[in-house]
Amino acid sequence: MAVERTLSIIKPDATRRNLTGAINAKFEEAGLRIVAQRRIRLARADAESFYDVHRARPFFGSLCDFMTSGPVVVQVLEGESAVARNRDIMGATDPAKAAPGTIRKLFAESIEANSVHGSDSAENAAREIAFFFAGLDIVG
Ligand code: CMP
Repeated sequence: MAVERTLSIIKPDATRRNLTGAINAKFEEAGLRIVAQRRIRLARADAESFYDVHRARPFFGSLCDFMTSGPVVVQVLEGESAVARNRDIMGATDPAKAAPGTIRKLFAESIEANSVHGSDSAENAAREIAFFFAGLDIVG
């Protein structure tokens, strides 16, 4: 399998509870390397643009409210099959359906306040990484 990069976001529910380090430990324990990381506050336009694919969904407005409600940590994770591996580490979108030991099972508050985002394909990973990071920001 190939070494890949994926975009991860530690969401406001997790930064509010000071869980950045605990979540990063999960990535590192699973063999993913944090090769870029920045703590930022998303503007409404940023959240709407990032989640544009969900614009027609009933939860879009609430999701953008939530994602701008506090700081987020945007990061690039690198490793073997990083996109799929990160999705395994995160667990299902709905924490009620997430497997034991996954980040969302351990930490998420709800399907919306679900602690982390991860790219769902290599194609989206490239787009999402470029949304937040320039090439020089990523140090493998
Ligand atoms: P994420 O992986 O960031 O991708 C889209 C986000 O929308 C998702 O995680 C959740 O935070 C949110 N989301 C997805 N489905 C729902 C839903 N049914 N109700 C509310 N929020 C949702």
